[in-house]
Parts: sequence; structure tokens; C-alpha cells
Amino acid sequence: MSTHHASRSIQPILVTGGAGFIGGHLVERLLANGETVVVIDDLSTGSRDNLRAVAAHKNLRVIEATVSGCAELPKIVAGAKAIYHLAAAVGVDLVVKSPLHTLHTNLHETEVILKIAADHGVPLLLTSSSEVYGKSEKAEFSETDDLLIGPPGQSRWGYACSKLVDEFLALAYGRERGLPVVVVRLFNTVGPRQTGRYGMVLPRFIAAAQRNEPVKVFGDGLQSRCFCLVTDTVEALIRLQNCPAARGEVFNIGGAEEISIRELARRVIETLGSKSVIESVPYAEAYAPGFDDMRRRKPNVEKLAATPFAANTSKARVFPRSSPCTKTPARTRKKLRSRGPKASAAPVPASSKRISRKRPKPICSANRPSSAAVPARWCRPDLKCSSKPVTRRRWPTSNVCMN
Ligand SMILES: NC(=O)c1ccc[n+]([C@@H]2O[C@H](COP(=O)([O-])OP(=O)(O)OC[C@H]3O[C@@H](n4cnc5c(N)ncnc54)[C@H](O)[C@@H]3O)[C@@H](O)[C@H]2O)c1
Repeated sequence: MSTHHASRSIQPILVTGGAGFIGGHLVERLLANGETVVVIDDLSTGSRDNLRAVAAHKNLRVIEATVSGCAELPKIVAGAKAIYHLAAAVGVDLVVKSPLHTLHTNLHETEVILKIAADHGVPLLLTSSSEVYGKSEKAEFSETDDLLIGPPGQSRWGYACSKLVDEFLALAYGRERGLPVVVVRLFNTVGPRQTGRYGMVLPRFIAAAQRNEPVKVFGDGLQSRCFCLVTDTVEALIRLQNCPAARGEVFNIGGAEEISIRELARRVIETLGSKSVIESVPYAEAYAPGFDDMRRRKPNVEKLAATPFAANTSKARVFPRSSPCTKTPARTRKKLRSRGPKASAAPVPASSKRISRKRPKPICSANRPSSAAVPARWCRPDLKCSSKPVTRRRWPTSNVCMN
């Protein structure tokens, strides 16, 4: 891992939690875009393996520290072009087993970085979670919905509350201190290198199926989720960070296709040609008596789809030329140009925000790859997954990882 100083002539982008699952993909993408990146990560749930492909990159610097414990944080933030704040205690298992660590990490670390970012006016994107929708039973969740969180006796709601307070904090720093901030609520995100160790469902299923062990489905398995491929998520993160009209706003990011967890298990077994059987495990056995799970968790992504993103964020074009997400209406382009390069450093007053309604497709459906083969490795080596490609078969047409 390169630990030398990134070029001082270029303003780096700071990614906290950059050695995590999503962070690793984000860092790879930013470097591919020609950016200089500084990662701060304490490797509590992340791993250097997540950055292995870019470990020797001359524009990457990795600092192993907590956000609040990083002595250089004020200096790094002062010189940064933008911040992606992903560092958090994540995963149902971790959150249920270590509620204090979860609350401390998600509240304290976020407040520390928000304050320093505000001191220097550095744009910050905060990754929140669909968990904030709590026990709501709506068919689809929208950013302005009322939220229904469970009682504090159940640790899992501490994660939801901590992420929600992070959102309040971020928006308050935006309003009162002029911090250019964007909040995103990520729904289930999946892809290569995700670990099942902290309770993430798809890598857990894949690891079991690869070993022909029972695939354990909690509850009746009829609870449903929507899964989004991490590369789509990363695309949305970068576009929102670079979009002046997104400042001070909250966005859902997630897949739009719902699938029950039992069906997900079935598809994993089928796709991998595994001999595994599905085993039902009561929640009380998997977690603790009284554990609450949500029956559905589907994002409404209309707001994301309607956002006038700045032109292509990548040097390597990822969307087809005809993709609606790469087109910026002429009027918006003119407006973005007229704001000049400094536009991104200042929050846009609500009255001047224009969210075009002419952009119907969510970012995730626009980025569907033409050949969605099952990736060679969807789990980390520490889970003893096979290093060989698991299969050459394609996902069924209704790919669980894409919307
Ligand atoms: N993966 C998902 O489906 C999902 C869903 C909703 C929200 N999110 C959010 O996205 C972000 C990234 O999640 P992920 O799935 O990549 O999880 P992850 O656990 O892989 O990444 C989190 C990273 O933060 C690091 N970290 C934790 N505490 C830290 C601290 N105090 N200082 C520095 N680094 C610290 C961890 O080591 C890890 O590398 C998190 O904020 C999470 O809440 C993820």
C-alpha cells in the first residue's frame, strides 16, 4: 500500500471508510477518473484487500486511523477538493452485538468531520442508510416520508437512529454553517468483495452455496429487498457530489426490483449449481428474542432520476451515449457553466434549485451492463470462497443485483 504523500499540486478527494466494500469501489473509480485520493480507514470492518488493485497507485494515500483519531485530519480536509464520508459501523450482526461502538462511531466520527468540513467549506457527501425508514410499511420509501423507528431496547434501531441523527447534523451544518452537503440513503448494495461477516445477506448466501452448506434464511423468507450493484451506487455518489443542485438534499440510492429473501437464496443456489438446501432459521435464534425485521425495503428513486447531473463524471464512459443520465439539458449546462468552477463550493439556495422533471430513468437502470455474468469473486478471501470463477452462467433476466 502506498503511503507517500499524494501530489500537493492537486487537491485530493478524501474518502473516509475508503477501505470498506463501497469505499474500495469508489476509490478505484475516483483514481480512474484522474483524481488524487486520500483514504482514512481504521480497518475495523474494511480491509486493505479492498484496495489491492490500486495499492501502488501514485495518486493514492491510505491512512490507517479512525476519523477522529487522525492527527492530520484538519490539514487534509483544509486542502481537500471534496469529502465522501462513508466510515461507519455497518452490518446487522455488528450493530446488534456492539451497540455502543455503533453509536459512538456513527455519531462522533460524523460530527468531527462535518465540523472540520464546515470550517473549510469543503463539499461533503454523507452515506446514510435505508434503515432510517425503520418499520414503515409503505410499498416504496420516499425521502420526505415520516419515519417510524423501533424502541431503544432493540439495538438494531440504534444504527437507524445514529444514521438519522447524522442526516440532521449534516443538513444543519449545511443550513447554519453553509456546508455544501449531500445526504444519500443507500439501500442494499452488493457486488464483488462484499463480506458476509457482518451479516450482509448476499455474500453470506453465496459463501454457503459455494460450500454446498445450508443457506440460512431468517424468518419466513418472504421479507423482500431491492439490491443495487455497487458500481451503480458509486456512479450515483460521484454524480451527486458533483451536482450543485443536489446540495442540501437527501437522495435514495437503490435498485428498483424487489425480491424475497427466500427467492434470493433459491437463485443463488440455482445460479451456482450448488447442492445447498434452504434452511429456515427463526429470528429469535439468529439474533435475539423480539428482533424486528422489515417486510419490505423498496426505494422510490424518482428524485435521483430527476436530478440534472453534470455531464459524464468519468473519463472512461460507462453509460451508452444514448443514456438519459449522461445528457445534461442545454439550459442546465449553461447554468452550471455560468456558476463557474467555484459553483461546487457554495450551497445553492433552495429558491434557485431546479430539479428537472424530464429525466425519467433511475441511474441504476441506465447502467445495466449488457452481459451481467456472475462475477468471479463476490466474497472476500477471508471467507474461504473459491478463488476460481464460480460459474460462467448468467444471472436470470431479472438480475437480483440490478434494478
Ligand atoms: N452496503 C450497504 O448495503 C449499505 C447500505 C446502507 C448504507 N450503507 C452505508 O455505506 C457506507 C459504507 O458501507 P459499506 O457497506 O462499504 O461497509 P464497510 O463496513 O465495508 O465500510 C465501512 C468502512 O468504514 C471503516 N470505519 C469504521 N469505523 C471507522 C472509523 N471510526 N474511522 C475510520 N474508518 C472507519 C471500516 O473499517 C470500513 O472500511 C456506510 O456509511 C454504511 O452505513 C451501506
